Amino acid sequence: MLNNTPSPPRYLGKLAVLYEHPENIEKSQALAQQLNIPLINITELNEKDKHSEVFFLAWRDGCLRLIDQDLLKKGGLTVEIEPRPGEQRSWPAPKDSALAKALGRKTKSVIDATTGWGQDSLHIFRMGYELMCIERSPLMIELLKDGLQRLSQETWIKNCALSVPHLVAGNAIELLNTLSTPPDAIYIDPMFPPKRKQSALAKKSMMILRELLGDDDDKEQLFTAAFQATGKRVVVKSPDYAPPLMGKPSHTFQGKLLRYDVYLKGDNHD
Ligand SMILES: C[S@@+](CC[C@H](N)C(=O)[O-])C[C@H]1O[C@@H](n2cnc3c(N)ncnc32)[C@H](O)[C@@H]1O
Repeated sequence: MLNNTPSPPRYLGKLAVLYEHPENIEKSQALAQQLNIPLINITELNEKDKHSEVFFLAWRDGCLRLIDQDLLKKGGLTVEIEPRPGEQRSWPAPKDSALAKALGRKTKSVIDATTGWGQDSLHIFRMGYELMCIERSPLMIELLKDGLQRLSQETWIKNCALSVPHLVAGNAIELLNTLSTPPDAIYIDPMFPPKRKQSALAKKSMMILRELLGDDDDKEQLFTAAFQATGKRVVVKSPDYAPPLMGKPSHTFQGKLLRYDVYLKGDNHD
């Protein structure tokens, strides 16, 4: 049974907003308040007795960035809105990736129920699918809102008269129950526990996400909600070492170090 009382975010005590430039003071204050985390001035950063946080959110170079100790001096992780290497830059990009094959030839509408850094969502969006994004972590919601705002200002979005994907904040296990129209496909990419030996290839963005959000232990419940809510299929992204989430899938498409397991509903075979 779903426990409706959300537990406090795991990032509390580890994350603060870092205020570096006077022009960002108001939005830094508002963000700290929104996430219920401290606001730290860059000048207090080395005064360890003043704060315990080791991850920071800060506006740098016009983007909201998530920063750890390695990235403090420069940089930070952000929702990347540029196409992936090798992806065609025109819109819609060809539907030739393993993810597109898993979504199905006739699929038009997709819900990404686990948006995270938005990288799969934005790939799906650039291929021309009608897309809605769901994310439950207030931290990721803020990073995604910033990414989608930057995306809305891109010339190609304006030239093609596109609206950026609709982002819904909340637990997909509950939200998927309330859909008025089922999408053709629901995509889920929950956080799986790592292999005992953490791969050197594990992406920093995912390692930080695991550290700040933890594993998604309710992924079976999410699958059940998605299978009930979808019109035709659920696609589950899985690391290659993990067994299929809900028994033998109808189809599997292999990617690099990962799989897309497709669960078809009824007698849909497109
Ligand atoms: C592995 S990440 C997804 C990465 C994403 N596919 C990308 O391309 O960046 C998993 C994300 O799903 C979110 N998530 C997991 N279960 C969820 C649920 N039931 N409802 C909404 N979001 C969920 C987590 O908060 C986390 O941000």
